[in-house]
Formats: sequence, structure tokens, C-alpha cells
Amino acid sequence: MKTLRHVAALRTEVAAWRKAGQSVAVVPTMGALHDGHLSLVRAAQSATDRVIVTIFVNPAQFNDPEDLKKYPRHEARDAALLRAAGVDCLFAPDAQEIYPPAFATSVSVARLSEGYCGSTRPGHFDGVVTVVTKLLLICGAHKAYFGEKDWQQLQIVRRLVADLNIPVAIAGCPTLRAADGLAMSSRNARLTDAARAVAPALYRALCAARDAVGRGEAVAVVLGSARRAICEAGFASIDYLDLCDAETLTQLDTRPKRPARLLAAAWLGEVRLIDNIAVTG
Ligand code: PAJ
Repeated sequence: MKTLRHVAALRTEVAAWRKAGQSVAVVPTMGALHDGHLSLVRAAQSATDRVIVTIFVNPAQFNDPEDLKKYPRHEARDAALLRAAGVDCLFAPDAQEIYPPAFATSVSVARLSEGYCGSTRPGHFDGVVTVVTKLLLICGAHKAYFGEKDWQQLQIVRRLVADLNIPVAIAGCPTLRAADGLAMSSRNARLTDAARAVAPALYRALCAARDAVGRGEAVAVVLGSARRAICEAGFASIDYLDLCDAETLTQLDTRPKRPARLLAAAWLGEVRLIDNIAVTG
């Protein structure tokens, strides 16, 4: 596995693969890799000849400087995991390479970026969309892999690529979970043992809410019970827990007729966890 830190070097590598008729995938990440990330790598490897993983802790998507400072960074360990997984190239640029001093451009996806994590983390999705646009244009891959774990992000990236005619196919991959249901996340490493024991309550509440909506119970009542269950389990507060259309993310207050999603973000001590689950009417 090659570790590349410069755009020009990566472009040269990808051009050679493409010239040889090979298909290329990219898996964008912020590192601190876990099995969820590696499941995207495996999905990419099963579909294309070459896989690039990017690791870049993107300052532009952190609205809280403390959160950026505390974000786990383990590049050597990550590189070993990726090498063992058979990844072809790790692209790990520094902040200067992505945001040189005169950098002045921001890409923004309207509407989809506005609710949920967009409300509670102002500017977050503009940061995500700008860096994803750059990474997709830098890598020139045929396919890019994203997790359903970040459902709103996945819908925004799909919109971005369609709206700007970026020549890449977006693949969404299911959320990988620990045995007790907790969605794998780089932030889980920051949970205390006591908080880690409480954390699966978020997924349990989403499952119970999905089942209740499926049985035809009133959506407002179901969402109220789910929020109560999460707080009673020991979460400090809930940023949001809503039912929405799976694609447009429009909030729903009645039983869905199209594919829908329950989206949630909640605080457990100092750590903010997000999760989501499919709902059929
Ligand atoms: P990061 O949080 O590192 O996640 C990288 C990718 O892994 C995302 O597509 C995310 O949805 C996926 N992922 C995370 N946990 C997962 C799980 N448990 N199961 C399956 N997939 C999972 O998301 C980002 O980084 C950044 O916003 C990024 C897109 C890289 C832009 O900076």
C-alpha cells in the first residue's frame, strides 16, 4: 500500500490505473478506523480493481474547536489496518494540501443540509460537502463508498454528485453495529465504561419506534416514547429524534407511504452519538 500526501502524486497513480483499464473506488474517512470503515473497504474491494482510502480530519466540518481537538487520530494504526486489508493507496493529505492559504470556495447543498445535524451543527454540512467535492475530484474514482450510519450525509452527497454532474457512482453501505446494537463510530472510543453500557439504548429506542410505527401507532406518541426511553436510560439530552422521508428528509408526522427513516442524535456525557434506522409504513 502506498501512502500519498499530495494531490499530484495521487492523480498520477490513478491515471496509471485507469490507463491500464482498472476500475477505482474511494472510501473517504476521517481515520480512527473501526470495523464500520473496513466494511466499506470490503464492499469497495468486491466491486472494483483498486481501492483508495482517504484519511483527513476535516477542520471545516467541525463547528466546535474542542471537538476537532479531541477527535481521535491514529494514523499509524489506521495505515496498518488498511495495509492488512489489502488497500492499494492511503491518501492522507495535511490541512495545507486541502486548504492552501488562499482557499476561498465553499460548496453547499441547500434544503437537505438544513435540518437534523444541520440545525444543531451550523456549517457542518458545508464543510463536509466542500471536502467531499474536493476528494471526489482529486481521486477521480469510478465509485465512492459512504455509510448509511450518516444517513443525512449520504443523501446530501447523492444530491451533490447529481447536481454538479461529478462523474462518480455513490454506493451506500449498511451500518455496522456492535453485538449489543451500538453503531460503530470513532467517537465510541471516548465513552466511559458506564456510558458505553448505556449507549445501545439509542438503537433499542429506534427499533422500538420503528416497530410501533409499523403497527400503526400515532407517530407523535411513538417519538415521545422513544425520546423518553433514551433520556431514562441515561442520555443527557437529545438533539433530535424524528421520522422523515428517506430521500428528501422531509419530516413526517403520519405513517409513511414511501421509504422512511428515523434519525436521532443524542448526548451521552460529553459524547454526541447519532444513529438511524429504516421504517416501512
Ligand atoms: P467518518 O466519520 O470517518 O466516516 C467515514 C465513512 O464511514 C462515512 O461514509 C460513514 O458513514 C462511514 N461509517 C461510519 N461508521 C460506520 C458504521 N458503523 N457502519 C458503516 N459505515 C460507517 O463521515 C465522515 O468520516 C466525514 O464526514 C467524511 C465523509 C470523510 C468527510 O470528511
